[in-house]
Amino acid sequence: MSLDLATLRRRLQKALGKEFTVGDLLGEGGFAAVFRVRDKAQDRDVAVKVLDLGLTPSPGLAERFVREARTSGQLEHPHIVPIYKVGGYKNEVLYIVMRCVDGPSVRQLLERDQRLSVVDAARIARQVADALAYAHGRGIVHRDVKPDNMLLDGSGHVLVTDFGIAKAAQEASVSQLTTEGMVVGTPHYMSPEQATGERVDGRSDIYALGVVLYQMLAGTPPFEGESAQSVLMKQATVDPVPIRELRGDVPAALAGVIERMLAKDPADRYQTAEELSRALIAALPGAAHDGLHTGRGIAARMVRALVGLAALAGLGLVALAVLSGAPRLSVSSPVPDSVTQTLRRQRALPPGDVALYVFAPRGAEDTTVLLVARRVVSIVTPHRVRVYARDSVRARYRLSLRGGLAFRMILSVQGVREDTAFRSLSIRAVYEMTPRLRQLRVSP
Ligand SMILES: Nc1ncnc2c1ncn2[C@@H]1O[C@H](COP(=O)(O)OP(=O)(O)O)[C@@H](O)[C@H]1O
Ligand SMILES: [Mg+2]
Repeated sequence: MSLDLATLRRRLQKALGKEFTVGDLLGEGGFAAVFRVRDKAQDRDVAVKVLDLGLTPSPGLAERFVREARTSGQLEHPHIVPIYKVGGYKNEVLYIVMRCVDGPSVRQLLERDQRLSVVDAARIARQVADALAYAHGRGIVHRDVKPDNMLLDGSGHVLVTDFGIAKAAQEASVSQLTTEGMVVGTPHYMSPEQATGERVDGRSDIYALGVVLYQMLAGTPPFEGESAQSVLMKQATVDPVPIRELRGDVPAALAGVIERMLAKDPADRYQTAEELSRALIAALPGAAHDGLHTGRGIAARMVRALVGLAALAGLGLVALAVLSGAPRLSVSSPVPDSVTQTLRRQRALPPGDVALYVFAPRGAEDTTVLLVARRVVSIVTPHRVRVYARDSVRARYRLSLRGGLAFRMILSVQGVREDTAFRSLSIRAVYEMTPRLRQLRVSP
């Protein structure tokens, strides 16, 4: 940083005015500092990123930075950090006001644990893929996908930050490179085409995310080296050590996804992040969920779950329920984009409606999906899609003893007609679904 933090803080406070109180430093990057700021009018904390203009070579760059920040400020997605305001003050400071995301960043997570569980790693990657798919669809390439730019909120949702602003930042650092002989930024996440200075598109972000996923599983990124140059050289020419050699519990399907993300030639990668998101879920169905296990008491949750089961089904059935296996899919809002889009294509989710809960059991009913959206409840089978107005249906279960213990789930439509959604659900499936349907007021 060319300006000291105290000066930067003073300038920021002056620029933001009395409605805001600049608080602690949340972190520093290559070209900016991020402060926690109290927004008194809204009674909330925000994070404000301040660009150090002492580093910025030209007003042209500053302008461009503001323009790019404003463009990415238009992105609205559950896995993208929302930007509230982009501002400048008499050319002394440029700043971005955004949501303060309180959990650790993925970098901090990796510093603490070095490696993550396979399912957590896949969940993080899938959420980032959804964010990328949305931004790429609006013509914005991130260009700086790395663990520092993936933030976790209190409930383990991943929010990606710094969309698209890296380009302007990079230029600042390039000129700094020539003026001060110092390298800013990390080459570990750069795609071969970025490393060799070619044109980049969304597929470059997919490569960078592949590096992050590899690192979350292996504990180290695929390529390291003495100098930036040697790392960039490896990005362009060396094949990574197959992930399963470093981490035996990675399923082969997931290893295949990673290999394809890290293909040297963009044409050999997934061509869209949406395709990638679907591939991650296909390789590991648990990747469809948002919440992470990291840092939370898994044992405590197991005990709570068992107590709940005991109350629901009688103690003798607990073991049976635990043994019956998790449902294939059980996701609450925000439902992954890839799932939502499939439901839209199947016409189960009408235009303008929003998916709130999607459930698919495992076993005999594997192919049937239940969708609860804001306005409709839909049952999707390979042959037919039934869509009901949400407030016209109530779900209930009936015990069925044919071929072992199971439950039938019936939708009663306006109290007159009945539609069997699932014929044979396990106790585990019912246990999983009941509280969610109750919360959504679909079951009594
Ligand atoms: N919206 C935010 N909420 C909370 N902390 C943030 C936010 N944005 C950034 N940070 C923190 O500030 C640090 C510096 O951010 P940044 O200047 O973008 O550099 P980098 O991404 O290279 O770490 C981040 O690593 C992160 O820990
Ligand atoms: Mg950042």
